[in-house]
Amino acid sequence: MSETLTLRRPDDWHLHLRDGAMLRAVLPETARHFARAIVMPNLVPPVVTGAQAAAYRDRILAALPEGMAFEPLMTLYLTEDTDPADVAAAHASGLVKAVKLYPAGATTNSASGVKTFENVRGVLEKMAEIGLPLCVHGEVVDSDVDIFDREAVFIDRVLDPVRRATPGLRVVMEHITTSDAVDYASAQGDDLGATITTHHLVINRNHILAGGIKPHYYCLPVAKRETHRLALRKAATSGSKRFFLGTDSAPHTDANKLLPCGCAGCFTATNTLSILAQVFEEDSALDRLEAFTSLNGPAFYGLPVNDETITLSKGAAVTYPSQIETEDGPVTVFDPLTELHWKVD
Ligand code: DOR
Ligand code: ZN
Repeated sequence: MSETLTLRRPDDWHLHLRDGAMLRAVLPETARHFARAIVMPNLVPPVVTGAQAAAYRDRILAALPEGMAFEPLMTLYLTEDTDPADVAAAHASGLVKAVKLYPAGATTNSASGVKTFENVRGVLEKMAEIGLPLCVHGEVVDSDVDIFDREAVFIDRVLDPVRRATPGLRVVMEHITTSDAVDYASAQGDDLGATITTHHLVINRNHILAGGIKPHYYCLPVAKRETHRLALRKAATSGSKRFFLGTDSAPHTDANKLLPCGCAGCFTATNTLSILAQVFEEDSALDRLEAFTSLNGPAFYGLPVNDETITLSKGAAVTYPSQIETEDGPVTVFDPLTELHWKVD
């Protein structure tokens, strides 16, 4: 008899859908399994205003294949010129579910991000007042800070001071990669959540750098040493409501990954649920997978859990494409370095 696992339909609390041909190619990979996703606003140019978010939402829905259901949860890209009134209106209309903070220069298309936090004080105070969460890319960008320390330093130098200065601000620490972030998140109250990606549960920095450089494992924040990966596994599989899935599935064409200066991002939308089921099974936590993928995120965002369910069954090795074809060129699917045996029915 085959083993099966039924879960409330999952949501992805951190996703890059891009635009145009790339959007059309990657959207079905997420919509096949996920009901909703927090959609990142780091397009070129970024999604800064409510009007831009509304237009982007329309383009996403227009790209959705017939017969598929998917709800994009829109975000605004925080700049030092962001207008608190526009943010409040976009939230009040139900369009926008979070504002995204990129420290300027931290990652892909973050040039318009924040340099001086004093300049976004008004927006953050408005967000605290209306209960709109701030999703944070938590890395400092100072060139004198080692790239493997950027998350831990950010918590001390930026995140904690900003939270203390803005009581009531709801914050999501996104794609956490360190035991420092796990410890910090675990010690906070219900106004803080933390997302964990699929790939950071699977790879450590050796996978990127040992035995030849592997651009498809390069993402930001970069994967850290094994002790940090194990801390992330423990947090994700703990069932704690503080932690939920944000895949940060971030498609780039192979042409843009395999360069002397290649783009950061792992594309995991296609096989995320098979990988997660395997990770949770390995850690004897299959009964807590649903909390991570389907319950804790809606609870943090104050949204209902999905009515529908999905069923995974365990059997022969799952097959999935190693690449997704797009009109811009192929996008390589994340390789979890092992056969997967849980398949979404
Ligand atoms: O690896 C990443 N890719 N990290 C980010 O923060 C951005 C993302 C992207 O947009 O490609
Ligand atoms: Zn991201």
